[in-house]
Amino acid sequence: MKKTITLLTLLLLLPAILAGCGSRTIEEENKEEATAGEIITVGFSQLGAESDWRNTNTASMQEALTPENGFNLVYKNGQQKQANQITAVRTFIQQGVDYIVLAPATETGWESVLTEARDAEIPVILVDRRVDVADKSLYSCWVGSDFELESKKMTAWLKAFTDRRNISPENLHIVNIQGTPGSTAQIGRTRGLANAAREYGWDLMTEVSGDFTENKGREVMAALLKGYDNINVVYCENDNMAIGAIDALESAGKRVGQNIMNGEVMVVSFDGVNEQSLQYCREGKISCIAECNPLHGPRVQALIESLENGETPEKFNYVDEGLFSCVSSVKNVVVDGTEYTIQEP
Ligand code: AHR
Repeated sequence: MKKTITLLTLLLLLPAILAGCGSRTIEEENKEEATAGEIITVGFSQLGAESDWRNTNTASMQEALTPENGFNLVYKNGQQKQANQITAVRTFIQQGVDYIVLAPATETGWESVLTEARDAEIPVILVDRRVDVADKSLYSCWVGSDFELESKKMTAWLKAFTDRRNISPENLHIVNIQGTPGSTAQIGRTRGLANAAREYGWDLMTEVSGDFTENKGREVMAALLKGYDNINVVYCENDNMAIGAIDALESAGKRVGQNIMNGEVMVVSFDGVNEQSLQYCREGKISCIAECNPLHGPRVQALIESLENGETPEKFNYVDEGLFSCVSSVKNVVVDGTEYTIQEP
């Protein structure tokens, strides 16, 4: 009885099965077979979701490392904690993934887990920030931004702006709202500002971490306003903190803009990803944004494909970045012999 029902069901379904088979071209079938055979499993330890930049970076990876492109992406969010990322990498090793992609929260403390990955013969690709390890063979390659160069462009812009307005250097009273302490982005952007302040004689009053988040940016700015009554430049190490800082400034009755010798507070920042910060830049609330490019997905895909082909890609792969501003008096800046034309946000 059971056999008869199964046979009947099969006969009824046969036309549909045949029609289904006929609707796929030979190329489609070949592609499916090839993909099924060569799927590459990638464990991606992202450091968190603290900013719009970070979310765009995650989306870029997810859009590039797809099954259609031959990848099985295993994503883990580290919630801004290195310990979570170390656990994620160890899980990837246990799972036997083909590649590990790591966006490290901070630079130090990676030797052990990266040695474990190397012992398991799993290549590691770093994205965005770097790791501070003596043995550079612990990772295959890195792709990301030159954070200190971003800062050099920003400080060159600030120097050009003050020169055009005849503002003397000692009249710049700057506070730095920094990113996550010990992250490559924080280290580079902080160093660039400190060097420029020393070189030009700016009054860099203090540096406080806002952890790259809007809430912390708001909180830290409110506290700074209580401690200093002469702040006229706020250097924010990313756009989300700038948005929070502007909110705190305006809530405290301050005007945000370029007229810094007449009571306005100038805000400058980094990223250029978030629509609100670009809009603030168009309105002049953020005077200048040094671009930080988050679109690493296709680059990581190309690096994996190159490793798959037995090639040795460049160890350090930098992305191109510009500078956004609506302040018409500065049209370009020159840093280390390269000219950067200021773009409209
Ligand atoms: O490491 C890149 C930085 O990290 C971006 O500037 C910031 O927005 C992010 O959180």
